[in-house]
Amino acid sequence: MPLKQLEMDFGPNYQDYKVIGHSEKISEIITIVKTVAPTGLSVLISGESGTGKEVIASLIHNLSERKNSRFIPINCGAIPEGLIENELFGHEKGSFTSASDRSKGYFEVADKGTIFLDEIGELPLSSQVKLLRVLENGTFMKVGGSTNIKVDVRVIAATNKNLSRMVEKGTFREDLYFRLKAVTMHLPSLKERLTDIPLFVMKFAQESADKYKRSQLIFEKEALSEIVNHHWKGNVRELKNFIDMLTVMETGKTVDGEIIKKYIKNDKGTYLPVLVGESQHQHDNELIFRTLLEIRNDLNLIKKFILNTYTKEVSPAYFEDEPAIKDILDPSREIKPAESLSEKQEIAAVLKKHRGNRRKAAEELNMSERTLYRKIEKYGINI
Ligand SMILES: Nc1ncnc2c1ncn2[C@@H]1O[C@H](COP(=O)(O)OP(=O)(O)OP(=O)(O)O)[C@@H](O)[C@H]1O
Ligand SMILES: [Mg+2]
Repeated sequence: MPLKQLEMDFGPNYQDYKVIGHSEKISEIITIVKTVAPTGLSVLISGESGTGKEVIASLIHNLSERKNSRFIPINCGAIPEGLIENELFGHEKGSFTSASDRSKGYFEVADKGTIFLDEIGELPLSSQVKLLRVLENGTFMKVGGSTNIKVDVRVIAATNKNLSRMVEKGTFREDLYFRLKAVTMHLPSLKERLTDIPLFVMKFAQESADKYKRSQLIFEKEALSEIVNHHWKGNVRELKNFIDMLTVMETGKTVDGEIIKKYIKNDKGTYLPVLVGESQHQHDNELIFRTLLEIRNDLNLIKKFILNTYTKEVSPAYFEDEPAIKDILDPSREIKPAESLSEKQEIAAVLKKHRGNRRKAAEELNMSERTLYRKIEKYGINI
């Protein structure tokens, strides 16, 4: 029996706060948010990727007296180490070769507002000292500057790493850790709040239909139970992307259990990309095109690592001939552990070089982000 979205209640915190969910865990989080939001205390939010850390940080800001000033989310893991202080605190003219003008950093721009430091565990030790100082007395110096600047900024930090372990290992300052964790909250993964999943599905189906101008999907109960039973490693974000994809690929259908199984069977956390076009036919073509591109990228990668492995035995010219590579793709061909290991090492090294930035690593490895993601999962690379 199909469920009707319009009759759905997205949870007690949806109307006022736009936070979906009626589980006890999410209600507890909202209670803490309401208590700490007006105080200006710094808050440390932990939780796996995609669990809604930024949603909660922005809610804290919006429920505080700072709501009319800026909320600036910064992903510390996405900014190169050498630039992070410049981004956070700004620089004085001439402080480094290309610093042509005096620039404001995020802390100056966010005065009277809130800064959300996502992936705080990625902040280099050298910048941690400076951050501690702003937290303690609201002052900092620009890069290349000599005068103290005073600001009034609330800091909310988030992490999906275990900061106390980082403190033990000496990669995160203990004093900063204690300062940040004045208030802590942990966002549960989706598998710890299964009863919220149908609400997310219904709400995201509504939003996707609006976004992609498709008719809204109707879900059979079996479809919902397949979705609830799947392990969404990327949590709410992954589920949301999945519903986007479904809205486009299965447009106008009543989704049953079989349709869901079709997409998530043997799934290791990835499914086909979201495709948006004018017609179903166009989607199909685009899908085939993307898959071909992926295969080409995989071929290039195989070519590259074989060249690295066998340069002494075979001349590179041999591999210019594409049919020769077909042999390598022969499914009956035995893959030696050493080969897998070297690909794993190469991927790990490139990821490390780009400080975990998958987009840049994928570019350098000449593969799509989706392929890279699949390989990270396959080899269990942890960066
Ligand atoms: N309770 C919720 N209600 C509505 N939308 C949510 C909720 N939780 C998460 N989302 C949605 O899920 C997506 C991921 O959320 P968010 O960016 O806040 O996660 P995150 O924990 O910061 O992830 P990451 O660790 O990868 O930075 C966003 O599109 C967000 O709008
Ligand atoms: Mg985030």
